[in-house]
Amino acid sequence: MNDYSHLIREHVDLSDFNTMGVSAKARYFARVLSVEDLRKVLQFVHAEKIPVYVLGGGSNVLFIDDYEGLVLLNEIKGREIQNETEDHIQLKIGAGENWHDLVMHCVSNNWGGIENLSLIPGSVGAAPIQNIGAYGVELEEVFVSLEAIEITTGKRKVFTKEACQFGYRESVFKRELKGRFVITSIVLELQKHPKVNTSYRALSDALMEKGIAKPTIKEVSDTVIEIRQSKLPDPSKIGNTGSFFKNPVITGKAFEALQKKYPQIPHYPAGEEVKVPAAWLIDECGWKGKRIGDAGVHTMQALVIVNYGNAGGAEIWNLAQDIRKSVKEKFGVELAPEVNVVG
Ligand code: FAD
Ligand code: EPU
Repeated sequence: MNDYSHLIREHVDLSDFNTMGVSAKARYFARVLSVEDLRKVLQFVHAEKIPVYVLGGGSNVLFIDDYEGLVLLNEIKGREIQNETEDHIQLKIGAGENWHDLVMHCVSNNWGGIENLSLIPGSVGAAPIQNIGAYGVELEEVFVSLEAIEITTGKRKVFTKEACQFGYRESVFKRELKGRFVITSIVLELQKHPKVNTSYRALSDALMEKGIAKPTIKEVSDTVIEIRQSKLPDPSKIGNTGSFFKNPVITGKAFEALQKKYPQIPHYPAGEEVKVPAAWLIDECGWKGKRIGDAGVHTMQALVIVNYGNAGGAEIWNLAQDIRKSVKEKFGVELAPEVNVVG
């Protein structure tokens, strides 16, 4: 018996491991609780010469087909204070911890910085992959470093913030280093005397409506949760992966041409360029609330594709392609998926 055989299962249905609720099968599947487990599973992968796909909460993946390699479910836990000063606290967190639980832990200790990122589904280890962001804050603002194991060599590597090359829903792990590392822990720096960030319009409006002029981080977190619950579908009730596409960032020139034709088009500055909400473009093409078989566009948020029950990954993907095509035809804008497509 090999050192790893107790960790490996075969022909595992992935429906419960992706929030879209797509029923693809993994040829091999392993749940790892520690770096030691991870190293053992990598021995198996090397012996069998098969590819690996790392999963956390499965809330940003779309399996279009069965996966012929090994799906590795990262459940490496742990939370420890790495460093503390008068003003800051540095936390090291295992990749398999739940992101929202971490946010709640920080809010209850009055450690500020990630309260705007309340209720984002998924694991801590996936947060750097797309530099998660919401309500005016992105992970990179509190990020210090991460530790990862290289899949081909088993070597441990530390990545600083700069090395992660964060951008809007982007990092080096979605580009040059895609599929090359398993993130095992991350380090964040939080404020012990928090300054809240209420720059996001929907958040400041909601706080104002509640008559809260000087919110605490708990009030910011509660309000973000309320806004999210009012428009995003709960994956435990209806399959989805949040925003299916990224918001396109276009040149000022391209935007001016669009604005001439559609004066009401919402937009936000993005450095030298302009960010346009994909939800608006999709909505204007008439997709909101549309349903084709069990695949559909959410009734409250046009950027969210939902699985009403038994839609397969390919069915969801076909709907996404149709949406993309109509946005391109009407506005000349390309939508890029935010979701990580497998297969
Ligand atoms: P998974 O879906 O399991 O994986 C995502 C990607 O990361 C995959 O490519 C996977 O291979 C890779 N990966 C995962 N863990 C590791 C690891 N340890 N090492 C290496 N690679 C890894 N995102 C936002 O940014 N902002 C939002 O506001 C937001 N809202 C959402 C709302 C809903 C209802 C849903 C369903 C999703 C939302 N998302 C949002 C997307 C999603 O929650 C995030 O992308 C989250 O970080 C995914 O975490 P996960 O553990 O589920 O990742
Ligand atoms: N809108 C429409 N129709 C809709 C929904 C929205 O026209 O059905 C327009 C409105 O003008 C609205 C604008 O689009 O003001 C933006 O909508 P919203 O505030 O809901 O935000 P979003 O751009 O759709 C982004 C992120 C979310 C994040 C929220 C809050 C991306 C791809 N998505 O959504 O992240 O939670 O802002 O910060 O950047 C995710 O990444 O999965 C995700 C949910």
